[in-house]
Amino acid sequence: MKFETPAGANPIDAMKVIGQAVDRVDGKLKTTGQAPYAYEHKDVPGKPAYGYVIGAGIAKGRVASMNTAEAKRMPGVLAVVSAENAQPLGKGQMNTAKLLGGPEVDHYHQALAVVVAESFEQARSAANAVRIEYERGSGRFDLAKAKPGAQPLTGNDADTHTGDFEGAFAAAPVQLDQTYTTPDQNHAMMEPFATIAWWEGDALSVWTSNQMIAWNKKELAATFKMPPEKVHVRSPYVGGGFGGKLFLRADAVMAALGAKACGRPVKIALPRPFMVNNATHRPATIQRVRIGTTKEGRITAIGHESWSGDLPGGGPEVATQQTRLLYAGANRLTAMRLAELDLPEANAMRAPGEAPGMMVLEIAIDETAEKLGMDPVEFRVLNDTQVDPEHPERPFSQRNFVRCLQEGAARFGWSRRKAKPGQVREGRWLIGMGVASAFRNNINMTSAARVRLAGDGVVTVETDMTDIGTGSYTIIAQTAAEMMGLPVEKVRVKLGDSSFPASAGSGGQWGANSSTSGVYAACVKLREAVAQRLGMDPATAEFIDGEVRAGNRSASLAEAAKSGEIVAEEAMQWGDLAKKFQQSTFGAHFVEAAVDSYTGETRVRRMLAVCAAGRILNPKTARSQVIGAMTMGVGGALMEELAVDRRFGFFVNHDLAGYEVPVHADIPHQEVIFLDEADDKVSPMKAKGVGELGLCGVGAAVANAVYNATGVRVRDYPITLDKYL
Ligand code: MOS
Repeated sequence: MKFETPAGANPIDAMKVIGQAVDRVDGKLKTTGQAPYAYEHKDVPGKPAYGYVIGAGIAKGRVASMNTAEAKRMPGVLAVVSAENAQPLGKGQMNTAKLLGGPEVDHYHQALAVVVAESFEQARSAANAVRIEYERGSGRFDLAKAKPGAQPLTGNDADTHTGDFEGAFAAAPVQLDQTYTTPDQNHAMMEPFATIAWWEGDALSVWTSNQMIAWNKKELAATFKMPPEKVHVRSPYVGGGFGGKLFLRADAVMAALGAKACGRPVKIALPRPFMVNNATHRPATIQRVRIGTTKEGRITAIGHESWSGDLPGGGPEVATQQTRLLYAGANRLTAMRLAELDLPEANAMRAPGEAPGMMVLEIAIDETAEKLGMDPVEFRVLNDTQVDPEHPERPFSQRNFVRCLQEGAARFGWSRRKAKPGQVREGRWLIGMGVASAFRNNINMTSAARVRLAGDGVVTVETDMTDIGTGSYTIIAQTAAEMMGLPVEKVRVKLGDSSFPASAGSGGQWGANSSTSGVYAACVKLREAVAQRLGMDPATAEFIDGEVRAGNRSASLAEAAKSGEIVAEEAMQWGDLAKKFQQSTFGAHFVEAAVDSYTGETRVRRMLAVCAAGRILNPKTARSQVIGAMTMGVGGALMEELAVDRRFGFFVNHDLAGYEVPVHADIPHQEVIFLDEADDKVSPMKAKGVGELGLCGVGAAVANAVYNATGVRVRDYPITLDKYL
């Protein structure tokens, strides 16, 4: 089914189940420990052996020798697999660094070998007995040093020019030209990278922890040079991913290699201190923003340049993309430059691009408003645009950005903010308020599902969609329930299995809208099949309260399937509406912060997010997404930073003791408001994403609140207390 024209009325609009704050249908399984993570699955043929991965002890160079003799003699050891004795591996499309290194070493903790043994402890101690000698090469680990050699990009990442940016900026009576930095960040998800793998003949099966089942089936097939049909990937419950689990990683590759070597299932969980340098991270950025305005505060020139680094062959952090769309202004420039670095692979982390881009742009907007003597909410409102500023003939599908700002300001008590910083004191605490816009594009991905109506009137949905803690099980159950006229209890949802139809997967905040649209499409087909089975006209049949009604006839859904299960499968595909209408999500973040005037300790006191993201499929799970994202935003503002060892080329604070993220005590009060929207130009669900929107801008709202409290403008994240000096 192709979505080509704006959605008309459809069964979803009844919103009997959709739009309701339904509890998580998997909540009980999760809270009672019955939703296994990858490492815990019992449905495995035979007793698994344990794999322990050995990572490179240098960042760049070669393995001169690897002596495994002693390790192989140790108790319980079944196999030691490295590039020396492994089958030659192919390379997938999605990852930059090779997942099995050797003899060349491309980054610190790149996997070089796996030791397989009867127990975890045996595998670990044998891994410690493998002797590796290196020839250390010289690497590039410093973005600031590499910046002058950073290269321009092509295609989607090429520079953009609209009007005459340089001329308009030079002529602007009010100018801002500032440079900001954001650090390397880590996903720090709860469940580590973990896989149980086994071979049956030439077929490979894995229980793994992954956001994108279809991608990973393909990537495993490419890596092991086998047909995708021979790969079975299952990831029904995922303990967080944040983009780190979009791609195939070393846990799955090394478990499959180990399993092949010892003819048994092998399980591997990457230890926390290993994950950070072995897997991917969000790269650091250096960003320059230039804004020129009229005396009245209209933006005439807006320019955003960003520098980031990655391994050779990698990509940039696309930190300038929101600046192409968020504010009006006739003269525009964006540019990204990519430096080669020999740090671990840079890649997607929640709201890649916009998260660090908005951390910077929205401080720059605050600074510009201050130069103008304007309220920062008013300055943003004045520079709203209802069209794509680079292509004025192209409107947004829906854009209630101004309402987010205005409703947020009223709700938050913004009028009590003192424009001049450093004015509000409570004892030793300086108090301030800050605002930032939220913006993230909406992306749709092809998504398929199969739906089965059984003789007991229960509908089962099967799709390879994942639930990474987001609530996919619940909104998919709600979608099928709404479409089939059933209560949510009459729907079963099976996810995360590559034997099911391929879905959008979980990434880029596309999961909710795309995957439910796929379920919608399958249910449209199922409704037709049910009506036909009952001899009713599919065009007029209504599905209400467990019944199908047409004309003066009615029958229960159970009756329809009495003579046999009715099955339908369909994919939602997307026409060119996203070309005709810019599809984006909008919001506003408000933060009140307190800074201890003696110690510089910074506390966030209150946070409010107002989001405009189309129809909200489930206000409870959507709110959870947004408050989690807001929490992550506070981490980005105040704590999160991978410390780079610029001599040896690795991230030093590679565990949860050294890589700080906020805890409950750091987040005393959060409020989330969703505007009542339905965007008929994005999908039949009329929904968009919220999971990344909730993060975009938060860091800057904190930074702006801290400035309002103290009068100290910190342009180098995270805002740690040393930076107030
Ligand atoms: Mo997201 S970084 O696309 O999981």
